[in-house]
Amino acid sequence: MQVYTLKNKSIEIDFIARGGQIISIKVPDAKGNVADVVVGYDTIEETLNGDAYFGALCGRYANRIVNGEFEIEGEKFQLDCNNETNHLHGGVDGFNQRNWNVSAVDLDRYVQAYQLSLISEDGDQNYPGKLEVSVIYGLTGDNQFVIEYEAETSKPTVINLTSHAYFNLNGAGNGSAMNHELQLNASNYTPISAGLGTTSGEIASVKDTPFDFTIEKTIESACETDHEQIRMFDGIDHNFVLDDFDGTVKLAGVLSDPESGRKMEVYTDQPGIQIYTAAHFDGSDIGKKGAPIVQCAGIAMETQIFPNSPNYEHFPNAILKPDEKYKHVCIYKFC
Ligand code: BGC
Repeated sequence: MQVYTLKNKSIEIDFIARGGQIISIKVPDAKGNVADVVVGYDTIEETLNGDAYFGALCGRYANRIVNGEFEIEGEKFQLDCNNETNHLHGGVDGFNQRNWNVSAVDLDRYVQAYQLSLISEDGDQNYPGKLEVSVIYGLTGDNQFVIEYEAETSKPTVINLTSHAYFNLNGAGNGSAMNHELQLNASNYTPISAGLGTTSGEIASVKDTPFDFTIEKTIESACETDHEQIRMFDGIDHNFVLDDFDGTVKLAGVLSDPESGRKMEVYTDQPGIQIYTAAHFDGSDIGKKGAPIVQCAGIAMETQIFPNSPNYEHFPNAILKPDEKYKHVCIYKFC
């Protein structure tokens, strides 16, 4: 499996065609010490046999759809339920499992860029419509790793693409990222219904809850509280509602590591961001540097439409029609 590299003067990003999986992002700290800041494995072989969501492109519908069911214009669709009773990240054969077509593209805005494309046939994983997807991975001179998604469909369908890297700004393989500080431009979040296993439909204020990251604080300070939404997942596995959403690219949040001083800003034009502190990592999987992938070895920051949006009218629209274009920009900027 070929490794593709995006490189500027200071950072280097490697990915493969299977799932468009980002396998490493090497970033210097202020003193010039370079660390690989995404959770993963040391070899391609381990990557292909390991957790197939690490750094991967997820779709057609990233995150959950309750009972794998949705309806468009009165027609009911049933997706497979690969996560207990729910459909997760596009199903058993989601986009993270596909071999994307990769080609180098020359775009003025990037030092280097690749286009990853994929055709998902009508009925793929039971989703309606033939979907043509294009994703640009671009690296700018000022250390912005930009992911530009576009898709078109032949029939009305649902769509929510995202990128699933887990970041540890102190370097993957150096234990937990619980000490990282997080700031989010999100005054609201979408609580989980234990019964549904995903969003209850409620949009709740973060005020006076551990989910208040409007002012920077450590991930740990939220995860060690007794709040029932935190205890449900032994941490955070929630969608945050980004403030002032209007479809333009805005700063969603900032993740920083006090130890190395590395900092990452996340920008998006999407209405939500899933923060996942990876409670399911239990140390049994061995990752980079031969180290066990422990709980919260990295933090996922997945820009997205809200989980289960196709079943809630008051959630952002996740339906794509044939005369429309799905567009999504996500920027991880290393500072
Ligand atoms: C979800 C988690 C899920 C994980 C699987 C995340 O995006 O929020 O609930 O366990 O993906 O890798």
